[in-house]
Amino acid sequence: MSRNAHGPSTTPLIHQLWLQPHAQPITAPADQSLLRSAQAAGIELLSSCRNGTCRACLRRLISGRVSYRIEWPGLSAQEKGEGYILPCVAHPDSDLVLEAQD
Ligand code: FES
Repeated sequence: MSRNAHGPSTTPLIHQLWLQPHAQPITAPADQSLLRSAQAAGIELLSSCRNGTCRACLRRLISGRVSYRIEWPGLSAQEKGEGYILPCVAHPDSDLVLEAQD
């Protein structure tokens, strides 16, 4: 469940991220990309450019919401509609379940 950490208003919102098939969630601060959150938890996801252009990190979001802080991440409207995201530039807006296996 999402929660606001205690402390001043500058404390980032913390979400939970389940990277299937891992059973335990990891913490996913809203001010950090999902790729960085996974790496911080010791889980390596395929990546290359880390700026939303190469698509190496493309994964399907099973549940939850993300937002991007770049103008147009390298996703087609169809891919977005099918739930694909780019974890290197996607930030969590809710608790999430993400396919972690190819
Ligand atoms: S690593 Fe290149 S788009 Fe994510």
